[in-house]
Amino acid sequence: MKKIAVLVSGGGTNLQALINAQSRGEIVNGEISIVISSSPMVYALERAQKAGIPSYVLDRKQYPSSQAMTVALVDKLKELSIDLVVMAGFMTIVTKELFEVYENAVINIHPALIPSFAGPGCYGLHVHEKALAYGVKVSGATVHFVTEECDGGPIILQGTVDVLPDDTPESLQRRIMEQCEWKLLPQAVSLFCQNRLKVEGRTVRILP
Ligand code: GRF
Repeated sequence: MKKIAVLVSGGGTNLQALINAQSRGEIVNGEISIVISSSPMVYALERAQKAGIPSYVLDRKQYPSSQAMTVALVDKLKELSIDLVVMAGFMTIVTKELFEVYENAVINIHPALIPSFAGPGCYGLHVHEKALAYGVKVSGATVHFVTEECDGGPIILQGTVDVLPDDTPESLQRRIMEQCEWKLLPQAVSLFCQNRLKVEGRTVRILP
């Protein structure tokens, strides 16, 4: 059984999708061992508590640098023998110390079709504002392995939604969450836990 840490900074709807998938038995060979939050005041922590999952706060403000916080994060992950790190709306910068220990074992969900609307400055509603301003007809979500390059790691799964003529950033964000993010993230986590993701350069092969 793979031990999973879910990293959060906000409302935690993707965490909830993982919790729900786990309770339906859809995270095959994996279990959420801990929820780690970058802030003590986020609703995601309540979701963890309600689900009976232990949580831990790693408050960025308590550390002098992103590197110092990352080292503390890695120490905690090692202490708990974590196999997979899932960033589910984790808004804090992490440094190479994480990827040195967890190579191809950190997963992120991004609310656009990478490489579009990705990279520095593309987070939260900004992503959907940019997509609408560009006039794209489809958008979606991407689950990818995390590397040092922001939003640049190998892509695991992508899903699409149509962009509708009267979409606002908020309506597009909601549709992408409901139709893509909340399905793709648990799927990718389950595939990882079954050892079914094989990274070959930039390509992730999904094994049967
Ligand atoms: C999601 O849109 C996710 O794609 C992005 O951050 C947001 C987190 O939302 N990385 P939530 O905290 O899971 O509700």
